[in-house]
Amino acid sequence: MPFTIAIDGPAASGKGTIARALAQRFGFLHLDTGLLYRAVGALGGDPVAAARELTPEDLLRPGLRSAEAGQAASQVAAIPEVRAVLVDFQRRFAAQEPGAVLDGRDIGTVICPGAQLKLYVVAEDETRAARRAAELGTDPAAMLAQLRERDARDAARATAPLRAAPDAVVLDTTALTIDEAVARAVALVEERLST
Ligand code: CDP
Ligand code: CDP
Repeated sequence: MPFTIAIDGPAASGKGTIARALAQRFGFLHLDTGLLYRAVGALGGDPVAAARELTPEDLLRPGLRSAEAGQAASQVAAIPEVRAVLVDFQRRFAAQEPGAVLDGRDIGTVICPGAQLKLYVVAEDETRAARRAAELGTDPAAMLAQLRERDARDAARATAPLRAAPDAVVLDTTALTIDEAVARAVALVEERLST
């Protein structure tokens, strides 16, 4: 049976960085599910049709990592039909041998409720804003407002809101370097693999 790692948490908490590192370390596949919603938002037009017709090339469009694309993503992500269209692809991805790491908002709660390891990655708002602003070369204060707006929208929506699964391990990266955060996640995977 493939080993599935579900990583969720608010914007810029460190999910993707940890997910990539775990996939590399354990030879698992990695899917950044936020990219699906960013691509649907960026395609414009009818979001449900865009989700149905999404191609791998759409995930390579330039600008998908921008703050604007993040805001558009969280708007289309609140539409239940958009989410429903994307469920099967994510579940099929998660079922690949020898294992897969998926990061997003609803992986542990909706997409892969049976994942062997669920991580809920958090960090203080100011820390997340400073990190993302440094990454994109933008203003931290404006970034803080944007992240808070997006987190509030993601947590308040009726379908698959941003929430920790009851059995998720919470990992606070505020005071951790990337290496420290990854080391904690690696230890949790090793613990689960050995039982
Ligand atoms: O995927 P998510 O939006 O949760 O966050 P990320 O893209 O993995 O991380 C956001 C930024 O924080 C990146 O620039 C990471 O390099 C940085 N980061 C950090 O400085 N320290 C950590 N412990 C984790 C991430
Ligand atoms: O990297 P960051 O945490 O800033 O954002 P992302 O993971 O790329 O996600 C962008 C937006 O897509 C989020 O704000 C959510 O609205 C939406 N999303 C979602 O609803 N469900 C997921 N599994 C992943 C992302």
